[in-house]
Amino acid sequence: MDARTPGRVTLVGAGPGDPELLTLKAVRALEQADIVLVDDLVSPEVLVHAPRARVVYVGKRAGRPSTPQDRINGLLVRLARRGWRIVRLKGGDPMVFGRGGEELLALRRAGIEADVVPGITSGIAVPATLGVPVTHRGLVTGVALITGQCRDEREPDWQALVRSGLTLVVYMGLARLPRIVASLQQAGLAASHPALAIQDGTRATQRQVAAPLSALAGAVEAAGFAGPCLIVIGEVTRLAATDLSTLCIGDAA
Ligand SMILES: C[S@@+](CC[C@H](N)C(=O)[O-])C[C@H]1O[C@@H](n2cnc3c(N)ncnc32)[C@H](O)[C@@H]1O
Repeated sequence: MDARTPGRVTLVGAGPGDPELLTLKAVRALEQADIVLVDDLVSPEVLVHAPRARVVYVGKRAGRPSTPQDRINGLLVRLARRGWRIVRLKGGDPMVFGRGGEELLALRRAGIEADVVPGITSGIAVPATLGVPVTHRGLVTGVALITGQCRDEREPDWQALVRSGLTLVVYMGLARLPRIVASLQQAGLAASHPALAIQDGTRATQRQVAAPLSALAGAVEAAGFAGPCLIVIGEVTRLAATDLSTLCIGDAA
């Protein structure tokens, strides 16, 4: 480390959970890092690839208080100005609901060199582990990745989404699941439309519930889901390998 030479920041995606779903490029970035700033949902096993780095947790996992985004941006800039090589490690892909864009803009504004190592995003990879191809040809023409955690004035346009016929993958939707389901039904999606909720995808603790849309929230509650959870809505969920379901509720009448 040379304090006169500005450091650089690499935003790295750690994948959905299984540490073997890390890319070779991510491993190389971790090996070369002086400091790793770790987010929520990153599996601790991934950090074996950063043996010489100082690890700073900025997520709220394990009861730690979360770090406000402005502070993380400021920390990245300050550390890089000291000449350190920094990896900003995030679950999934840093640019998919990962605030990677905000951090990249803050670094760019501060004149800090930054690059991105993409990761495998959970919304595609986790359904795939169940045999669910979110863009299955003949069933759908594409997939929409949606946040379930939005303020009222920024609600997704549920009607447009339903009209689109796309597979819907909802990130961060667990807390508002009943409301999301109600909005989709109000927008015209049938009560019997197939859906799937998957908790802790690609980890040993993975569990999933398949149910028609109208029964999904109840099924998820009955299963006691509390961890990171994805909601997948669409005909493609019928392609899930049935023997992988821990709980599968029959089609609604
Ligand atoms: C802040 S977003 C981060 C998404 C991440 N950047 C990605 O590309 O997967 C966190 C949400 O991602 C989803 N998620 C991430 N990892 C997951 C996993 N292993 N199983 C299920 N859902 C997951 C959950 O919806 C969780 O609330």
